Amino acid sequence: MEEHSMSAVNIGVIGYGYWGPNLVRNVAELPGGNLVAVSDMREDRLKQVKTMYPSVAVTTNYQDLFAVGLDAVIIATPPHTHFAVAKDCMEHGLHCLVEKPITLNSQDAEALVKIAEERGLALMVGNTFEYNSAVEMLKQMVDSGDLGEVFYINAVRTNLGLFSTKLNVMWDLAPHDLSILLYLLGKEPHSVAANGRSSIYKGVEDIVYLNMKFENDVLGHVHVSWLDPQKVRQITVVGSKKMAVYDDMEPLEKIKVYDKGVETPPYTSTYAEFQFSYRHGNVVIPYIKFAEPLRVECQHFIDSIRNKTRPKSDGVVGLRIVRVLEAAEWSLRNNGQARDIEPFESLGATLPAANGKHI
Ligand SMILES: NC(=O)c1ccc[n+]([C@@H]2O[C@H](COP(=O)([O-])OP(=O)(O)OC[C@H]3O[C@@H](n4cnc5c(N)ncnc54)[C@H](O)[C@@H]3O)[C@@H](O)[C@H]2O)c1
Repeated sequence: MEEHSMSAVNIGVIGYGYWGPNLVRNVAELPGGNLVAVSDMREDRLKQVKTMYPSVAVTTNYQDLFAVGLDAVIIATPPHTHFAVAKDCMEHGLHCLVEKPITLNSQDAEALVKIAEERGLALMVGNTFEYNSAVEMLKQMVDSGDLGEVFYINAVRTNLGLFSTKLNVMWDLAPHDLSILLYLLGKEPHSVAANGRSSIYKGVEDIVYLNMKFENDVLGHVHVSWLDPQKVRQITVVGSKKMAVYDDMEPLEKIKVYDKGVETPPYTSTYAEFQFSYRHGNVVIPYIKFAEPLRVECQHFIDSIRNKTRPKSDGVVGLRIVRVLEAAEWSLRNNGQARDIEPFESLGATLPAANGKHI
């Protein structure tokens, strides 16, 4: 490997609101990364940065970051700003890690992917769950066939608040679940239907149910809500051999694998003989070596830049998720009618293959 590619990556973080501090902390602590500057439009937030990291430069204008020798930026501003800020940063030659959702429409996401491609830049979306050891374990169970043929995946992400008056709960929370579903199944759905309601703030849904159909009749269901008495973060994968439940609220026993299933008799001649056999086997709680997913994600961004490799959750992954959200948004506005999603491959040859190794 060339010597220069192993030097520390100079990073700026844009947006120091609720989530930005977690990114800043990880960048400051990680080997291979060098936290140079933080930008936020709010002076009070920058004061906070200075208290914690006195040597880090701060500015209310993110464009000042173009003059401080950065290699990369991490963008943790509100979603409606992602496109303009990321475009500007990439046009100034900076690698970008953009928080989820990468943009609010697919044209913008596509445009970012193209800029990254043309300029040989790493463009990554902050799909934290793709860097989560529990999700990785589920992925191995699905890919190895341990669970058998996957029948359906159910995802629940509910709690009380935090309400937004701009973006509905689907765009806020469902990117996490969609990233998990698409990662586990390795493909996006071919149709989606969404139902929701705005209970508190008119015109902004605070509860949404997404129903998705994937290849081979696999079903995906996502329930997101800001109006629920319980904080639930749960993914259930039901397969023909076993069933797995990932409960992110569990501090230690995050995954339980149930050796449960139903077998149909091979042949019966009379109704009286026809009986399903239910299997109630062991419940296994696998040991998961847990690392902070955000730390793994930030390290992956740094490594992708240093090794010139395409990030696992690259811009194309971000785009694929936005395409599902966009179709679901259409369905929300059309009484829950199902909306077909064109296969990603039909978008045209101008986009890079999602599994390309090099930037
Ligand atoms: N990966 C995760 O688990 C996770 C969790 C929470 C939030 N997020 C994402 O992080 C992003 C930020 O969310 P948040 O909850 O921290 O929002 P927030 O509103 O709390 O913070 C955003 C900050 O960005 C600043 N800002 C806005 N425009 C700016 C600009 N042009 N230049 C500099 N600063 C600017 C604001 O002043 C604010 O301090 C969103 O995309 C959100 O979806 C991700």
